[in-house]
Amino acid sequence: MASGKKQQDGTANNLMQKIASRDFTVGVVGLGYVGLPLAVEFARKGIKTIGFDVDASKVKLLQKGKNYIQDIKDEHVYEIWKNKTFSATTDYSVSSQCDVIYICVPTPFTDNKDPDISYIVDSTKGVAAAMRKGQLIILKSTTFPGTTRKYVKPITDATKLVCGKDYFLAFSPERIDPGNKHWHTGNTPIVVGGITPDCTKLGVAANEVIIDKVIPVSTPEVAEMEKLLENIFRSVNIALVNELAQLCDRIGVNIWEVVESAATKPFGFMPFFPGPGIGGHCILIDPYYLSWMAREFDFVTNFIELAAEVNESMPFYVRGMIEREIAKQPVTLQKAKVLMLGMAFKKDVDDLRHSPALKVAELLDLDGITNISYYDPYIPEVELHHGKKNKRVLKSVKKLDATTLKKYDVVCITTDHSSFDYNMIAVNSKIVVDTRNACKNVKNKKKVVLLGDGK
Ligand SMILES: NC(=O)c1ccc[n+]([C@@H]2O[C@H](COP(=O)([O-])OP(=O)(O)OC[C@H]3O[C@@H](n4cnc5c(N)ncnc54)[C@H](O)[C@@H]3O)[C@@H](O)[C@H]2O)c1
Repeated sequence: MASGKKQQDGTANNLMQKIASRDFTVGVVGLGYVGLPLAVEFARKGIKTIGFDVDASKVKLLQKGKNYIQDIKDEHVYEIWKNKTFSATTDYSVSSQCDVIYICVPTPFTDNKDPDISYIVDSTKGVAAAMRKGQLIILKSTTFPGTTRKYVKPITDATKLVCGKDYFLAFSPERIDPGNKHWHTGNTPIVVGGITPDCTKLGVAANEVIIDKVIPVSTPEVAEMEKLLENIFRSVNIALVNELAQLCDRIGVNIWEVVESAATKPFGFMPFFPGPGIGGHCILIDPYYLSWMAREFDFVTNFIELAAEVNESMPFYVRGMIEREIAKQPVTLQKAKVLMLGMAFKKDVDDLRHSPALKVAELLDLDGITNISYYDPYIPEVELHHGKKNKRVLKSVKKLDATTLKKYDVVCITTDHSSFDYNMIAVNSKIVVDTRNACKNVKNKKKVVLLGDGK
């Protein structure tokens, strides 16, 4: 070594040069809320990008230049399809063409709330079957510490290629926040931790092609754990205000005003707000990944589990609020008509996964309130489940206007979509149960019953 400095291994060096010259191919496995935006971002930078998914219907749409993710502009998908920087396939063998492969598959939990990493295992096997020297694999799915090293690496090592020498492996968690107008893939800093220092360096270089700031950490386990910390931090803080909201209801203090006034402190406080519960594919699920792993080490994550318990009790609390408002009217539970506003798990998105609104509807249905309707401009239809076998399909009412609102005994705001006209809702409903403080600025609050306002 002429310079006396330790040089990168030849394979790592080659890949680094390819990335630096932007002459490399990216593969993205799992084209959902995380994978498709990532693929579009690379392709729009002119990097040849190939998307892989087991869902043939998604691949078919993409093969026609059609988009199905709300956060992505249709014309962006069309543009990268038209200029051939992006293609999609169900065929894993094509992954041998890729230099950098991101894995963005689901990490749900089982019925018993244990982690289900089968999607990670299956997709890694698919990639490993076509692996060649010089590839970098980056796992992005949120998961417990140790997944990359103990579950992914043994599969890729079975190819007889050597990690850190022939191929490279890293974990780099996703931070996308669907519906967020300010923070997107390009301007949200991201962390990467590789199995070896070269794995980390290559992971940083690949991410830097599309992301302004990439932070290297020492191991994949640090990256895996920091992602769980981010989401558990939210879960625990939301649980705290959800508990305080219930206390405030008893003592006659408005929790919303409490949080907003506390947030005037310029340091050491961050506002979180109560609601009907948490949903989505992350904050509800991720704490269970860590709790499960902790048990293997004879450690009970009491704090985290208590937070999950409080958050998961919120749909039950909201059910109680709705039924109390029905009880005040001359109508039985069986005959009462309830309209729920918003089914998505959070505002302005079309994602229904683990939505607390859906849970509230199922609980009401179970109590015999079968006249439930809902309105959500993003969710045309939902299924209410009772156990594994019984399900009932509800379709969104077509229009939200005064005539519609007047038909219902109770209207419950479960998701505070920006497009709702809250003044119109507050004036024309018999009673509004507001679980999101969505009616904060309406002029006439006489018929509004707010979660956590102590009245
Ligand atoms: N959605 C978010 O806001 C968000 C944010 C941060 C992290 N995450 C994490 O990212 C991961 C992906 O989440 P998502 O919301 O994109 O999920 P998603 O369900 O929207 O997309 C996952 C995609 O993977 C595909 N898939 C499943 N098995 C596959 C296989 N074996 N091979 C190829 N494709 C396969 C599915 O068909 C689907 O299209 C999860 O671990 C999640 O926790 C999600």
